[in-house]
Amino acid sequence: MVDLTGQYEGIKAQINQGMEKVLNTAAFINGPEVHAFQKELEAYLDVKHVIPCANGTDALQICMMGLGLQPGDEVITADFTFAATVEVIALLQLTPVLVDVEPDTFNIDPVAIEKAITPKTKAIVPVHLFGQCANMDTIMDLAKKHDLYVIEDNAQGIGATHTFKDGTKKKSGTIGHVASTSFFPSKNLGCYGDGGAIFTNDDDLAHTMGCTKDTIMMWLV
Ligand SMILES: Cc1ncc(COP(=O)(O)O)c(C=O)c1O
Repeated sequence: MVDLTGQYEGIKAQINQGMEKVLNTAAFINGPEVHAFQKELEAYLDVKHVIPCANGTDALQICMMGLGLQPGDEVITADFTFAATVEVIALLQLTPVLVDVEPDTFNIDPVAIEKAITPKTKAIVPVHLFGQCANMDTIMDLAKKHDLYVIEDNAQGIGATHTFKDGTKKKSGTIGHVASTSFFPSKNLGCYGDGGAIFTNDDDLAHTMGCTKDTIMMWLV
């Protein structure tokens, strides 16, 4: 679907120079290039913390673990998304509650979210699709009313801007408590390989997510 070879042809010199820089320093993991990207993305999104990680699936998992969600907690998400959104909920033994999307945008329907809320609901995962931001005004109101976490799955929405009812604008992925994204090569912002990140404005959550990421990396080692 995406002509990655054609894309590479257009930016080959820049990419090769960047790759060479990393290869020459052997700073492959969390090196200066990753830190520079992290800072640039924080500035672009206007968010306090960008935490890079291995891929979008890990990012979602780290968000859910970092928020302390427990087996049996219900997590409401869209029935039209990539498998990873629901896969991670199930992996952590949380209960996925799938609700329908809006027919015009294919983004999660806030009316359907409200109908699905029960005393066991702990979080909502809106999935911003096709570069469009879900209806975050209503989703954040619902979250506040029912004391729920909002984890934005921004893998297909990075760069979208949401305009609130009062005219304020914010980038998708900076509105909920925490957000995840994927840099899979064919994504809105793709990388050469696998990559992902978590975004949050909450200092305590950022610290917890960073520690959760390191713990997952240690398990893998
Ligand atoms: C909406 C959505 N969430 C999560 C993911 C998972 O990202 P990754 O493939 O980097 O693990 C993807 C893409 O694959 C996606 O499209």
